[in-house]
Parts: sequence; structure tokens; C-alpha cells
Amino acid sequence: HLSVQERIEKKRKAALIGGGQLRIAAQHKRGKLTARERLELLLDPDSFVEYDMFVEHRCSDFGMEADHNKYPGDSVVTGQGRINGRLVYVFSQDFTVFGGSLSGAHAQKICKIMDQAMMMGAPVIGLNDSGGARIQEGVESLAGYADIFLRNVMASGVVPQISLIMGPCAGGAVYSPALTDFTFMVKDTSYLFITGPDVVKSVTNEDVTQEELGGAKTHTTVSGVAHRAFENDVDALLNLRDFFNFLPLSNKDPSPVTECHDPHDRPVPGLDTVVPFESTKAYDMLDIVHSIVDEREFFEIMPNYAKNIVVGFARMNGRTVGIVGNQPKVASGCLDINSSVKGARFVRFCDAFNIPIITFVDVPGFLPGTAQEYGGIIRHGAKLLYAFAEATVPKITVITRKAYGGAYDVMSSKHLRGDVNYAWPSAEVAVMGAKGAVQIIFRGKENQAEAEAEYVEKFANPFPAAVRGFVDDIIQPSTTRMRICRDLEVLASKKQTNPWKKHANIPL
Ligand code: COA
Repeated sequence: HLSVQERIEKKRKAALIGGGQLRIAAQHKRGKLTARERLELLLDPDSFVEYDMFVEHRCSDFGMEADHNKYPGDSVVTGQGRINGRLVYVFSQDFTVFGGSLSGAHAQKICKIMDQAMMMGAPVIGLNDSGGARIQEGVESLAGYADIFLRNVMASGVVPQISLIMGPCAGGAVYSPALTDFTFMVKDTSYLFITGPDVVKSVTNEDVTQEELGGAKTHTTVSGVAHRAFENDVDALLNLRDFFNFLPLSNKDPSPVTECHDPHDRPVPGLDTVVPFESTKAYDMLDIVHSIVDEREFFEIMPNYAKNIVVGFARMNGRTVGIVGNQPKVASGCLDINSSVKGARFVRFCDAFNIPIITFVDVPGFLPGTAQEYGGIIRHGAKLLYAFAEATVPKITVITRKAYGGAYDVMSSKHLRGDVNYAWPSAEVAVMGAKGAVQIIFRGKENQAEAEAEYVEKFANPFPAAVRGFVDDIIQPSTTRMRICRDLEVLASKKQTNPWKKHANIPL
């Protein structure tokens, strides 16, 4: 007979090895770390405080009541810890215990830390590696998912929620990551899908591998479900630490400010020549972003999806900012369905969490065509417009070249409550390009070339916008960093509220 103390020790030891050495070895063999190893890498050394190590599943069907089917802690490790000294709540699913499947007890553990995170005002990070609902538990497990989903929704816009997919995540399990703010994946070892390849084959007769159906490449380039993919567990966890540093802890926290060694008034001479003289020639908006932000450090979100828009986090004089930029290098930087949705979701995250938004505009308009119209570009494009319009965080806009048509309005224009709107001398703000415009207003007339030149002279420059106060100033590109840093200082005390409402009705 063991004493209570001995029983405590025994259970703790059992919890630490989860499903046992053989299954740990199998996990390693696949290039995956265990749930606990992952937390060790994610959190500051010795900062992890574990909860619910003694929780066991309560299933008594299918022989589950047997002692050898009980694992202290069950199939998830939960608790809180620190990343660079800042509080975070975490859960890490343990694939070595029943494939990390979600029992009622497993769900209850996750709900507990989510409730605490909400009360304390700290982000939640979930490391997902799970075979889905615990099949032996039936509806108990489904209830558990719904309990988590509800909390994901309640926490949305209150504390940042991040999912890192590090193994399977299928069926109902996918909806928790989908409800969180950011979903990251590990290449080759993680996948997300509603139903696996076998079900797909039986229903639609398609032959598809797990990787093709729901691997990191699919979700970061085709579906837009995941925001970034990393090489392996270590790479993913270290990147997650860096990413965390950009985020406020909650919606009551101001945008974080870190010490900055990059002079706020650093001129960027290269910017004076970055925009090509011919307005049809492309350049890389990322060059502009990198050269303006602190230390050239830019954490891009969805870098391989809808590449005609660039979004991500950076710092200006140490302060976290969200960057949105049209990318002239891809499809001339025009807005389409995917780029609008990508941009809108990013802008809304920034607004929810007090992160100022800096928008670089070079947009020839919305992409024409039946594919876009039938796909609903009108309601999807409206999302980006809506997101910029409702945002009350500091908004700074720089028109580097084209700002044409409705897209001019959308891209954080003065009219949507842009706080500071700049134009570079290369800016062209007009209803449309000169050729198209002249074809319409001078249809069939002679001297088209002359009319075109007149149109360019009139509109293809920053003055029409500047004389009306729609841009606040025309600035030398090399001074852009200095101007933005100074503006952010002033805008830090910005207070703006929207009218009371139960919630808004963004076009979905
Ligand atoms: N419920 C209960 N146990 C589960 C489980 C689940 N949903 N998923 C996996 N397990 C168990 C397996 O029985 C196995 O147990 P064992 O080691 O005692 O034999 C262990 O977890 C590992 O699973 P295994 O199938 O050997 O791993 P794998 O890497 O070959 O495959 C999956 C992983 C996730 C693809 C596979 O387990 C699977 O398809 N699971 C069911 C997924 C599902 O349909 N879930 C319900 C939808 S919500």
C-alpha cells in the first residue's frame, strides 16, 4: 500500500510520460516533439505552471474504465507560463495518449485555461495534435468541442488566440483553430480537414492524399485557412515566440512598445527612386515595407496567399504596427476576392487589439471579370472597405503611386477616417487609368492621344487630392519613416468610438 505522498508522486511521474516511452519514440520518429517538449520550447525556462495533472477521463465504455486505460492528465497538457516574461495560457495536445483525442475531461481542461485567460486578460495558444473526438465517449466529446468553440467566440476580440497545428486536426476539431485569430502549421507533419481522404473518396470519388487535401502547402497557398507554415516543430515554436512579442495581451492593453535601436528619424534615401518612372512598371512593395520598419523586421501573415496584398506586423520606433500594402508585383496590385478577405481580417484583428494600421497604396482598382463577379467580389470587396471604415485605431496611409477608383476609397482613405494620409510625388489619384477614361469620355472623338495627355496632366498626380485636403501632405519618400514614427507618437492618445450597437453586420 502506497502512502498518499507516494501516490501523488507516482501519478505525477505517470503524467510526465503520457502514453509511455514507446509512443514517445514513435512521435519522435515522425519528426514530432512531445506535448511537453513543445511547451518547454515555447515558454520561458521554468515558467510553465501546470494545471490538472491529475484529471482523468471518466469513460466506462469499451473497457476504458480499466486502470491501464487511465492516464493522469489525460491527452492534453494545460497551464500558464511566460513568453519573454509576458503571461500566456497554453494547451498542448498529447498524441501519445489515445492519439491526443478529445475526451470530456480533455475539453474541460482546455475550457479551464480559456476561462482563466479571459479573466486575467492574457492570450491563449493551442498546440494541436489530435485524432479528433474521443470515439469511445461519443456525445460527451462533441459537447466538449462545443464548449471550446463557445469560449473561442467569447474570447474573440478580447484576448489574442493562436493555434499551431502540429499533427492531425480533423472533423469537428478544425473549428476551434478556425475561430482563433491565427492558425500556423508545421510542414509535412500537420494537416487540417473536415473529412479525410477515405471519406472524400467515398463521397466525391476524388483521389487525394492527406497532404494534398489539408497539408500546410494547401492551406497557406490555396484555401487561406492557415496564416503561415514552418519547417518543423522547433522552427514553428521559435517563430511563435517572436510573433507573440508583437501582440498586446488583451483588448485592454495598448499596442506593445519595445526598446528600439533603429533611429526613428532615419532617412531612407532608396525610397526616392523605388517607384519606377513608367507607371505600368512593377516594383516590390516589400522593399518599401522592409526599409521603413524597425530593423527591417516584418512578420508577414499569409505570405503565399493572395500575394497581390501584403499584410503583417512590424514595429515603428518600437511600437507594434499592422502593415497593409498593395503589391504591384502581383497582378499589378489590384484588389480581388481573396486579397480583400485577407486584408479585411487582418485590419479587424489590428483594430480589435489596438494596433495602429499603416497602409501603403498602389492599386489600379478591382480585378474585372466574370470569375470575380460570380464569386461575389462585390460583397467580399465590401469586407475590406468595411474593416477600414469601422477601425478606430490610428490609421496612417501612404499613396506611393496609383490610387484608382473605388479601390482608392477602400485603402484607408481620408474619407474612411484615415488620420494621416500622405501622397508621394509619384501618386496618381483618379477614377481610372488615362486610356480607359479617355475612351469613355471622348468616345469616337479624334485626338485621343491629346485627350489622354490632358487627362494625365490633370489627374495622374497628387494635386487633385491634395488641394481638397484628401491627403494631408505630399512628402519626400525618403522621409516616410520619420513622418510615420512622429505621427504614431501623436496618435497614441487617439480616442474614437463607433455608435453603440449589439454587434455590427459585416458583409460575410
Ligand atoms: N479516439 C480514440 N482513440 C483514438 C482516436 C480517437 N479519435 N484517434 C486515434 N486514437 C488512438 C488510436 O486508437 C491509437 O491507439 P493505440 O496506440 O492504442 O493503438 C492511437 O490513438 C494512435 O492512433 P493511430 O491511428 O495509430 O495513429 P496514426 O498516426 O496512424 O493516425 C489519425 C492518426 C488521426 C489519422 C487516426 O488515428 C484517425 O483517423 N483517427 C480518427 C480520426 C477521426 O475520425 N476522429 C473523429 C472525428 S472528430
